Amino acid sequence: MVHLRSILAALAATAPLASAAGLHQAAVAKGLKYFGSATDNGELSDAPYLAQLGNTNDFGQITPGNSMKWDATEPSQNSFSFTRGDVISNLAKTNGQLLRCHTLVWHSQLPSWVSSGTWTNATLIAAMKNHITNVVTHYKGQCYAWDVVNEALNEDGTYRTNIFYQTIGEAYLPIAFAAAAAADPSAKLYYNDYNIEYAGNKANGAQRIVKLVKSYGAKIDGVGSQAHLIVGSVSSTSNLAAVLQSFTALGVEVAFTELDIRMTLPSTAALLAQQSTDYKNVAAACVAVSGCVGVTIWDWTDKYSWVPNTFSGQGAALPWDENLVKKPAYDGLIAGLGGSTSTSTTTSTTLRTTTTTTTSATSAPTGTVQKWGQCGGNGWTGGTVCVSGSTCTKQNDWYSQCL
Ligand SMILES: *[C@@H]1O[C@H](CO)[C@@H](O)[C@H](O)[C@H]1NC(C)=O
Repeated sequence: MVHLRSILAALAATAPLASAAGLHQAAVAKGLKYFGSATDNGELSDAPYLAQLGNTNDFGQITPGNSMKWDATEPSQNSFSFTRGDVISNLAKTNGQLLRCHTLVWHSQLPSWVSSGTWTNATLIAAMKNHITNVVTHYKGQCYAWDVVNEALNEDGTYRTNIFYQTIGEAYLPIAFAAAAAADPSAKLYYNDYNIEYAGNKANGAQRIVKLVKSYGAKIDGVGSQAHLIVGSVSSTSNLAAVLQSFTALGVEVAFTELDIRMTLPSTAALLAQQSTDYKNVAAACVAVSGCVGVTIWDWTDKYSWVPNTFSGQGAALPWDENLVKKPAYDGLIAGLGGSTSTSTTTSTTLRTTTTTTTSATSAPTGTVQKWGQCGGNGWTGGTVCVSGSTCTKQNDWYSQCL
């Protein structure tokens, strides 16, 4: 793997400038499978949006943000609806893009017939398997990967008490993975979660899940690190890479699956510059780890970001602004992927071998650290005071987090 990636990088280094013509091209030149974006039906009537989404220099992969979730695909029991999901799978086919399919078992966007149903262990297992089997079979052969289970963990690394855990216990995870594997043996099966970009209890919990699924004899191929991050609170490339490696050491691949880096509005030149550095560090971490297959941003323009609707007063999280104009974050991503927007890429091989050692920790801006952000640990030079309502909590010697 390392050899192959080095060879690909060496070939890219001798290729003309076109190798850095976009995010996906830069990613592939480094041996990644893709750089991609989430999207969904609501945005596709916007012609300029649709055109750039289909620009495969930037996006070699797409993920449906909502239309393959349980509430969309099985709104009432054993009544399946694939119309909106099919729009995205067909778009991927038309554009020649990989499709990440998202997501089968999650506590949210779960219809009430499931979340408030009256279940026994056996009946909920049957309903869950029926859902997985039908949805995965429908998209069989079309999904590069499935996020089989999404967000099963609390922040402290214990299991979230959703209906599946309450009724079935932790066995719901391996049972879900086994059902997905049976329905589409060639799809990569992922566990996907947020706040596992940093070392600590939650990342440890995700490692426990990988081992659990394997201990039941079921297949798990990957861990998706969502990477819904905050400007100024993003770890260094080396710290991010170390956590990715803690997963690949278990024999699974990894990807950043829902990357966005939000800021407290209004956006300023300083925040945009910090955001560019943060995006660069995340992309470089994936490049630095042999088992990291790709990076997906959670839509590509601020016009359609989920952030302002979810985090009051925050936004501007994506590499293109609301007018579909590239922000400094775009150049940060290209730099992190070892590409160049203006010069040749002859240094690409050295970047790959030096990113983990020469990239210094990002200094957080002065002022308070946002909730979930890093606030301490060996070598940390950023902010140590948490925004009011959260407390700096030691996770281990090299990572403390505002919780
Ligand atoms: C439910 O059944 C599964 C499959 O037999 C088993 O692994 C699991 O432990 C059971 N859960 C409970 C709470 O009994």
